[in-house]
Amino acid sequence: MSEKWGIQLRSDEEQNGEAARQMEFVDEARGLVAELSEQMGRQLISHITTFGCQMNARDSEKLRGIFAAAGFTDTDNEDEADIVIYNTCTVRENADEHVYGRLGHLNSVKRKKPGMIIGLCGCMMQEQHVVEKIRKSYPFVDLIFGTHNLYAFPELLVRTLKEKKRIIEILEATPYLPESLPTERKYPFKSGVNIMYGCNNFCTYCIVPYVRGREISRKSADIIQECEKLAADGVREVMLLGQNVNSYGKTLDEGIGFAGLLDAVCKVDGIDRVRFMTSHPKDLSDELIDVMAGNPKVCRHMHLPVQSGSDRILKMMNRHYDREHYRMLVENLRHAMPDISLTTDIIVGFPGETEEDFEDTLSLVREVGFDSAYTFLYSVRTGTPAAKMENQVPYDVAHARFDRLLAEVKVSAEKMCSRFEGQVHNVLVEEKNRQPGLVTGRISHNLVVHLTGDESMIGQIVPVRLIQCKGFYYLGEPVR
Ligand code: SAH
Ligand code: SF4
Ligand code: F3S
Repeated sequence: MSEKWGIQLRSDEEQNGEAARQMEFVDEARGLVAELSEQMGRQLISHITTFGCQMNARDSEKLRGIFAAAGFTDTDNEDEADIVIYNTCTVRENADEHVYGRLGHLNSVKRKKPGMIIGLCGCMMQEQHVVEKIRKSYPFVDLIFGTHNLYAFPELLVRTLKEKKRIIEILEATPYLPESLPTERKYPFKSGVNIMYGCNNFCTYCIVPYVRGREISRKSADIIQECEKLAADGVREVMLLGQNVNSYGKTLDEGIGFAGLLDAVCKVDGIDRVRFMTSHPKDLSDELIDVMAGNPKVCRHMHLPVQSGSDRILKMMNRHYDREHYRMLVENLRHAMPDISLTTDIIVGFPGETEEDFEDTLSLVREVGFDSAYTFLYSVRTGTPAAKMENQVPYDVAHARFDRLLAEVKVSAEKMCSRFEGQVHNVLVEEKNRQPGLVTGRISHNLVVHLTGDESMIGQIVPVRLIQCKGFYYLGEPVR
């Protein structure tokens, strides 16, 4: 393993130098890939499977961009690839299990294709016990790297192609941001934009601060420049990404906060819609609500994870707000934007959660009325404070609560979703529907609409009458 401690984010000059160095590796990789393709009589094929959140999705777009620049052809089918990368997530235990399960399958594929290269990266790889397990029990894995050395993927790719021996490179912090690497977007018309990396919140159940490291905000000028480039390249909608976007700017000396950044991004010509994820209730400012309300480009949707409706549990989770504060934020948001969509994350079965605590969560869902909620069974993450807490809730108790919560969320979501029936909303058309003659897109409130149309509409924003609400989505007709 590489150097471990004392890594700091390098100066701009050093960042640029490293970016140029990595681009040289991209060139070298292109040469190697061309040679190998000639030997094999066909193009080399790469595949990336992404687990986890939007951050990982964005990281995978960078990996894909590097593969493309090196001359690989991308495939959705890992079985036919020459190199497969799994970009992993470790937020809950089932995410880890999923990766191990899939690795078993990859091993059987590789037995029939001995030259195949298998690589693992992402959050799981920042955990020492995981790397140890793979080192010992998964000898067919050729390349392991972490979240902090994504910037060096071109170099790691060249080494993997040349050295033909296992490479394990994990850093404990981020020296260089992977900003200047080529990127291959999933959609031509929308894109994620990292505004910050890492997390400093240390919610007691959460592994993210340990695997993604300390919070780093990108300079606002760099973010705006990236948005301008994206707009010039046909992007209409950007999603500003961070684990807690509301604390944007705290690590900079620019004196800018998230509200200021959002306002500046909205001024970029060509960008018609701006979304962001994720907001932490403790840092949601009145100024942000004002900027949202005053700016029609900002989508009328806020994902505001509440995690629990019980003050006692929120305290034990180290969330730094209580139920009343959350309710007040919702009130302020709805006062400023009456039709805003609200979605949330909720954890069931946090250590010590009683029936009464759980009922507080149920009643909060009822009171707030969420457009949807992602519900999770608490999962013990080694190394987090909650893992050592007493009174872990038995699985069957947590599971029964989970089912009750799901039923409550469904009632709330169906009621909320139907509120736009009959109205006309702008839809950004994203893809063809499986059903012929239909395409699918989203309104500003993030609700999905299936509408009559054809492929030529993909990437366009069209006014659509929302004719019928089908529970969680709409059927609509374009308004001509
Ligand atoms: N930064 C975001 C969330 C990132 S993780 C935020 O603070 O809102 C996404 C969601 O996973 C969290 O909101 C939480 O609900 C859930 N989660 C995180 N750790 C978990 C754990 N140990 N068990 C169950 N759910 C968890
Ligand atoms: Fe995890 Fe909390 Fe950070 Fe979100 S804010 S990533 S839940 S520690
Ligand atoms: Fe998972 Fe890492 Fe995201 S742990 S949720 S992929 S930051």
